[in-house]
Amino acid sequence: MPSPIRKAVIPVAGLGTRFLPATKAMPKEMLTVVDRPLIQYVVDEARAVGIEHFVMVTGRNKGVLEDHFDIAYELEATLAARGKTAALEELKRDKAPAGAMSFTRQQEPLGLGHAVWCAADIVGDEPFAVILPDMIPRGEPGCLAQMIAHYNEHGGNSVSVEACDPSETASYGIVGLGDPVGDSYRMTTMVEKPAPADAPSNLYITGRYILQPEIFPLLAEGRRGAGGEIQITDAMLRLMETQPFYAFPFKGRTFDCGSKLGFLAANVAFALEREELADDFAAEARALLKAAGKD
Ligand code: UTP
Repeated sequence: MPSPIRKAVIPVAGLGTRFLPATKAMPKEMLTVVDRPLIQYVVDEARAVGIEHFVMVTGRNKGVLEDHFDIAYELEATLAARGKTAALEELKRDKAPAGAMSFTRQQEPLGLGHAVWCAADIVGDEPFAVILPDMIPRGEPGCLAQMIAHYNEHGGNSVSVEACDPSETASYGIVGLGDPVGDSYRMTTMVEKPAPADAPSNLYITGRYILQPEIFPLLAEGRRGAGGEIQITDAMLRLMETQPFYAFPFKGRTFDCGSKLGFLAANVAFALEREELADDFAAEARALLKAAGKD
């Protein structure tokens, strides 16, 4: 059995420019799908599969993320005094256990690879997960749970993948597939945001990674890639020369909540899963579509 995945790195230092002006003073990760912030969805997904420690790589304007996982004395006391026990219990459940979260700063948004490197000292010499908080998977078991089940059998490094429309490859990291291994495939290549004509497939990385610590010295070299950023894909390609790398097709659907369309679709999908909302929301949505002549 390979070493367990105990830690997850969550990079949250990006600027969220696609969501301006909403993200001018508020972190993108606090945007809500129904009534829960994106960051809560990903922490829940990871806690459900036994992740014990979260390393958030933050930047300016991200302090509210720390507050979100902290005790809110006044609020909790008020809820208790008013007998709102269900809301109180939910707040307590959502909080991080003491000592389970570390926060480190990426002073400049130099790229995802650089953000992950900022977590190197806290992760140390063990395999770990990387979770992009704007990619929200829907499926049971969760995306990280499916990947860790595969990892426990096969070890190595892996990324979750899903098919995108072939015209959309330039928005994502795209992989090439080799032989099947269990529920996954050996990965043969990875290209950051290729034009459709240069894409090795239409399978995009959906924001979940399991990586061995040998990635850190490669990231430390700070080589710039696509867009002048320190890309995680470049370091992964080099790690692939010496270690097994798998592309794991997620059995479910991921919503790219960093894009407006993905974010809106996630709200619809998750609202329709809420028993207390589903019927009324569906009726409202149908009426709106009809009124707009789009039904
Ligand atoms: P994105 O590519 O979505 O960038 O980063 P972004 O800044 O969040 O959003 P846009 O494109 O400007 O709208 C993917 C993830 O990597 C983090 C982001 O916070 C996001 O979770 N990231 C990206 C960093 O932490 N640091 C970086 O330098 C770049």
